[in-house]
Parts: sequence; C-alpha cells; structure tokens
Amino acid sequence: MSLNPANRPVIAVVGAGPGIGEAVARRFVVEGYSVALLARTEDKLQTMKQGIEADYGKGTANYYITDLRIEESVLASFQKIKTEMGPVDVLVYNAGARRVNGKMILDTTSEEFENFTKINLFGAFWSTKCVLPDMLAKQKGTILFTGATGALRGVPGLASFSPGKFGLRSLCQIITREYQPQGIHAAFIIVDAPVDGKLIGGVRRRQWAREGAQEKLDDIDAYLLQPEDLAETYWFLHTQKRSAWTHEIDVRPQKEGMFSKL
Ligand SMILES: NC(=O)c1ccc[n+]([C@@H]2O[C@H](COP(=O)([O-])OP(=O)(O)OC[C@H]3O[C@@H](n4cnc5c(N)ncnc54)[C@H](OP(=O)(O)O)[C@@H]3O)[C@@H](O)[C@H]2O)c1
Repeated sequence: MSLNPANRPVIAVVGAGPGIGEAVARRFVVEGYSVALLARTEDKLQTMKQGIEADYGKGTANYYITDLRIEESVLASFQKIKTEMGPVDVLVYNAGARRVNGKMILDTTSEEFENFTKINLFGAFWSTKCVLPDMLAKQKGTILFTGATGALRGVPGLASFSPGKFGLRSLCQIITREYQPQGIHAAFIIVDAPVDGKLIGGVRRRQWAREGAQEKLDDIDAYLLQPEDLAETYWFLHTQKRSAWTHEIDVRPQKEGMFSKL
C-alpha cells in the first residue's frame, strides 16, 4: 500500500528531531512534498508525523526508525521509503551529535570517536548512496547537509565531533564534483550559531537567565537561530535556478558573537 497516495515528491529528513529537522520537513510539506522522517526514537517520530498530518493532511509524513550508525539500518529504511513513498527527490542529512562538554583527545575513547563520527559522517555517506541512483535516473535531485562551526576549524574539546563534520563538508563537495553534471545539486549549510532548540538553546537560555541577561531573552531571535527561519534557507537552496547554484552557505543570528570568526 502506498503511504504517499497523492504521489507527492519525496523529501527524506535524516536526523529528524523537533528543531531543524522538523522545521525543514514542514517547510517542504507546505510546498507539496511528502516527508520521510528518520531517527531512532519512535514516540518523537510519531508525534512529529501526527503533527504534520494534522496540519497538512494524511500522507504528508511517514517515519522510519533508523540508527544512522548502522549501515543495514540505513539501507533498510531507504528501501522501505522507496517501496512505500517512492524515490527520494530531496535528501536532507541533518543528524549530528557531540558531547555538550568537550573532551581533550587523550580523554576521548576510540568508541566515542567512532560513535559520533558514524552519526556525523558515515550515515550521510550511506544515505547518499541510497538516494543517488534514483536521482541520477531522473537527472535531478537535491542533497543538503547540515554543517556546523566544527566543520570549519578545530576547536579544543571537539575531537569526536569536528572530524566528522569536516568530512561531511568534503563529502558534499565531492558529490558536487562527481554528480552535478548529471543534475544533482548538493549544498552544505554551515550553522554557525546555537539553535533555539531544547538542548543547546536551552543551555543558553538558562545561562542568560542565571546571568540576568534579560535583554537577550527578550530579543531571542537576535541571539539564537530559529529553526523555522533556517528552514527557509533549505527551501531557497532547493529552488535555486541551475545557472546559479550555491554549494555552501553560512548562517548566524544578528547579534551572535561570530562563533567561528569567519
Ligand atoms: N542545535 C544547535 O545549536 C546546532 C548548532 C550548530 C549546528 N547544529 C547541527 O544541526 C543538526 C541538528 O539540528 P537540531 O539540533 O535542530 O536537531 P533536531 O533536528 O531537533 O534533531 C536531530 C535528530 O537527529 C537524530 N539522531 C541523532 N543521532 C542519530 C542516530 N544515530 N540515528 C538516527 N537519528 C539520529 C536525533 O533523534 P533520535 O535521538 O531520536 O535518534 C535528533 O532528534 C546537526 O547536524 C548539528 O550538528 C546544531
């Protein structure tokens, strides 16, 4: 049975959580897409699917429980998506993970390095391999990777995070070099600031509350990146004309202290 009865174009949001992932999913669904949401936690995925379908109708969202650290899990999900929803037109690899409190190299175990690098990089490689054949058959497809400040420079404490994000950036450039002539538009979005989500945004909000920085809390969009605003960038990249494709873009809020000093 098709889970995409209206044959809408399909976007796969890999690493779909309530922040950037859901915001991007919604931005595409409002334009007529059906979204495949991939992550590990079923109750969160279910809530997201129900919320999107409540707003945009049945068949606009489905979820696929996936552990991006395991190749077979990624392959199985993409096979199901193809069978149940159709070939993927847009791939957004949004998963990324790091320790909130950094650790120096000598304190970072090999298991930790491997675990985070699998999420930050390997999952993107496997996901890309799953969607490329159908995109190439259509001579058309968009691949968007969510980057971070850590993709641009090494910072103490981020040994288990940055190497994966650097690699993700390079993978994105390689997709462009290898497949752009056949119609694939790949772009890397450098999210160079804290996002107003539960984890990092929550840490910042609590810190500012403790410090009595009320002006920041009252003007939050100037300090924390809003997922819905960032989602506009993903839609913009996807809808660019092919004579003027962007390969890399960086974003930060108005009063953010220029994290990476780009
Ligand atoms: N938040 C920030 O301040 C910030 C700043 C700069 C860059 N970024 C980048 O933004 C992206 C995340 O966006 P977000 O923070 O707004 O998060 P989000 O979209 O709310 O959620 C991302 C989801 O990825 C899923 N995920 C993590 N590991 C996974 C795995 N092994 N297998 C399957 N799914 C997995 C998690 O769901 P499950 O746990 O259910 O699997 C999580 O909910 C990352 O690439 C991150 O590096 C974030």
